[in-house]
Amino acid sequence: MATPSRSLLCIRAWICPAIFDHVAKPVLFVLLSLPLGWLGFAIAGELNAPGSMLGADPAVEVVRYLGEWSIRLLLLTLSVSSVRRLARFPKILQLRRMIGLFAFSYVVCHFTAYLGFLAEFDLLLIKEDLVERTYITVGFLGLLLLVPLAVTSTNRWRRRLGATWRKLHRAIYLIVPLGLVHLLWLTKDQYGEVVVYAMIFLALMLERLVAHRRAS
Ligand code: HEM
Repeated sequence: MATPSRSLLCIRAWICPAIFDHVAKPVLFVLLSLPLGWLGFAIAGELNAPGSMLGADPAVEVVRYLGEWSIRLLLLTLSVSSVRRLARFPKILQLRRMIGLFAFSYVVCHFTAYLGFLAEFDLLLIKEDLVERTYITVGFLGLLLLVPLAVTSTNRWRRRLGATWRKLHRAIYLIVPLGLVHLLWLTKDQYGEVVVYAMIFLALMLERLVAHRRAS
C-alpha cells in the first residue's frame, strides 16, 4: 500500500496537470482582461460624471494606463521562461502565447488611444510626433517590432519557420528595452517606476545568462 505522502504525490501529479489544463487558460484570460474591463468601467463613469474616475485629463490618463499595462505584460511574457526554469514547471510555457498576445493587444490599444484621444487622428500631427518626439519614435518602433511576433505566434507559424522562429522572437529582447527607453524619455520626475521595471528586466536577463552558462 502506498504511504500517505506517496499517495499525496500521486494525487498532486494527477490533479495538478488536470487542473492546469482545464483552468489555467480561462483564469488567465479573465485576469488579463480585468485591466481593460476596469478601464471600460472608468470611461463609462467618466461619461456619466466627468472628472470622477480618470482625473483632470482623462485622455492622457487612458493613454498612460494602457502604456503601463503594456510594459507590465511585456515583462510578464519575458518572465515565463524564467519561472519555468526556477519552479521546474514546464507546463507554464503553455501560457506564454496568451500573455504575449495580451501584451500586444494592450500596446495596440495604447497606440489607438494615442491616435484617437491625443492626436485626434490628425495625420500631420502624428507625422510630426513620430519625427520630432523621440519617445514616440521609440514607442512606435517597439510596436512595429511586436507585429511579426504576434502574427507568427501560432504553432503553425512556429513549425513553418523552424529555427528562424526562435531568432525572430528574440526581438522581444529589443522591444522591452525600447518600451523602457520610451518610458524613461517621457518621465520628467519620479523615476522610481522606470527603475523598478528596468531592474525586473535586468534580473530576467541575468537569470537567462546563468541558465545559458549552466546549459553549456
Ligand atoms: C512597446 C510599445 C510601447 C510601450 C511598452 C509603451 C509604454 C508606455 C508607458 C509605460 C507609458 C507611461 C505611462 C505612465 O506615465 O505611467 C507610456 C506613455 C505614453 N506612450 Fe507609450 N508605449 C509603447 C508604444 C507607444 C506608441 C506606439 C505610442 C504612439 C505612437 C505611444 C505613445 C505614448 C504616449 C503619448 C504616452 C503618454 C505621454 C504623456 O504622459 O502625456 N506609446 N507608454
